[in-house]
Amino acid sequence: LMTIKIAPSILSADFVNLQSELEAIKTADLVHVDVMDHHFVPNLTMGEPIVKRICEVSPIPVDAHLMIEDPDRWAPEFARCGARSVTFHMGAAHAPVRLARQLHDMGAKACFAVRPAEPVESIFDILDEFDMILIMTVEPGFGGQKFLSNQMGKVRRLRDEITRRGLSTSIQVDGGVSPTTAPIVAEAGADVLVAGSAVYGVKNPADAIAAIRQKAEA
Ligand code: DX5
Ligand code: ZN
Repeated sequence: LMTIKIAPSILSADFVNLQSELEAIKTADLVHVDVMDHHFVPNLTMGEPIVKRICEVSPIPVDAHLMIEDPDRWAPEFARCGARSVTFHMGAAHAPVRLARQLHDMGAKACFAVRPAEPVESIFDILDEFDMILIMTVEPGFGGQKFLSNQMGKVRRLRDEITRRGLSTSIQVDGGVSPTTAPIVAEAGADVLVAGSAVYGVKNPADAIAAIRQKAEA
C-alpha cells in the first residue's frame, strides 16, 4: 500500500486571508500554489513576492505549480523563494533536463507536468531526472472543473514504468480530485493528490483532507 500525500491548492482559498487559510490545512502534507501568467493559461494568480511570503508562513512545505511560459527563465526564482518542489510544464519548457538539474542544485525538487492531450511516454527517456511527474486531470487554468477520468491510463502506464525501472518518482494528479475521485486516482497509481475546491469549498478543510486521505488509502 502506497503512502498518500495530500496537497490542497490555495487557488480556491480566500486570497485576502492567506495566513489563516494556510493554518486551516496544516494536517495536509504539502500546500499546492498555482502560479499562472495569463499566457500559458488564460488566468493570472500570483508571482514571487506572494509565493515568498507563503513559504515563510506556511506550516507545511510549498509545492509550486508553474503554469507559465519560459519556466527555464523563471522556475529557479520560485526555488529561491523557498518552494520545496517546483513543477513546470512539458508544453512550456525548452530544456527540461537542464532546468531540473538547476532546481536540484538549488535544493528544490523538480517536477514535470503533462497536460491532458500530451503523451506521458515522451518523458520516459528523462524520467530519472525528476522527483515527481504531474498528470493533469483537467485543462490547467481554473479550479472547480470536472475530473478527466480518461487520464487514468496515463497514470497507470507511468506507474508501471516507474515500478519496472525501480525508480522512486512520485505521481501527482491535479484537477477534480475529491473524496469521490480519490480512490480512482490512487488505484491507478498516483500518490500525491492535489485538491482545491474539494478542500476550500467546504466548511472544514481539515475534514475534507481527512476524507480524501481515507478514501485514497482504503
Ligand atoms: C488548475 C490548477 C489546480 C486547481 C485544482 O489549473 O492547477 O491546482 O486548483 O482545483 P480543483 O481541485 O478544484 O479541480
Ligand atoms: Zn495546480
